Amino acid sequence: MAVQINPSILSADFARLAEEAKAVEGADWLHVDVMDNHFVPNLTLGVPVVESLARATDTPLDCHLMIEAPDRWAPQYVEAGAGSVTFHAEAAAAPVRLAREIRAKGARASMALKPATPIEPYEDLLPELDMLLIMTVEPGFGGQAFLDIMLPKIRRTRELIRKHGLEMWLQVDGGVSASTIERCAEAGADVFVAGSAVYGAGDPAEAVRALRERARSATEAAGWACAH
Ligand code: DX5
Ligand code: ZN
Repeated sequence: MAVQINPSILSADFARLAEEAKAVEGADWLHVDVMDNHFVPNLTLGVPVVESLARATDTPLDCHLMIEAPDRWAPQYVEAGAGSVTFHAEAAAAPVRLAREIRAKGARASMALKPATPIEPYEDLLPELDMLLIMTVEPGFGGQAFLDIMLPKIRRTRELIRKHGLEMWLQVDGGVSASTIERCAEAGADVFVAGSAVYGAGDPAEAVRALRERARSATEAAGWACAH
């Protein structure tokens, strides 16, 4: 499985979203942060904007729902055109039922963990998921410093994926940049969200290429990707 780079439009210009999406067309997915001002202290966008974005770009949408009651709202993001929908473990009332509903509607199902949420209680749920997102900052804002203390959780999660022989992806989100992406890749992440490191760069497409190259060589050097 090749590494994937998902620019986060949270750091883009919200008045020019279609152009900002086009500026990173070499990216694997466009990461769309949905915040409801309850689960996190910030408010961004919802279903109508996702619908418009899906029409405006060929890059598939990776919707990260930082919202309360995802059991109620997440399916609407699949209908809006998201190819992957991530709900938070801390907010979901019935994560297995929700993951199955997202898959049944035709999207990849993914679950996110805030920094203080351990992976171990969710070990038996992993086969229900297409991706696990480990937050490497407290969710809510772009441009925060990467939390190195999350690296052991990334390692333990990669080990669980290996142990169960799963094909699922392991995403990291928060503070991922040229100076931190290699640590994430070495620890076992294979999908990298980057907001400020991409849209804060003079050439966002070049920033995506450079991040991909760093992640690719760090993964190769780490060797975990050939372990199964
Ligand atoms: C934060 C969001 C992230 C954010 C990352 O809560 O989930 O996706 O955009 O931004 P950077 O890469 O700047 O930390
Ligand atoms: Zn995000």
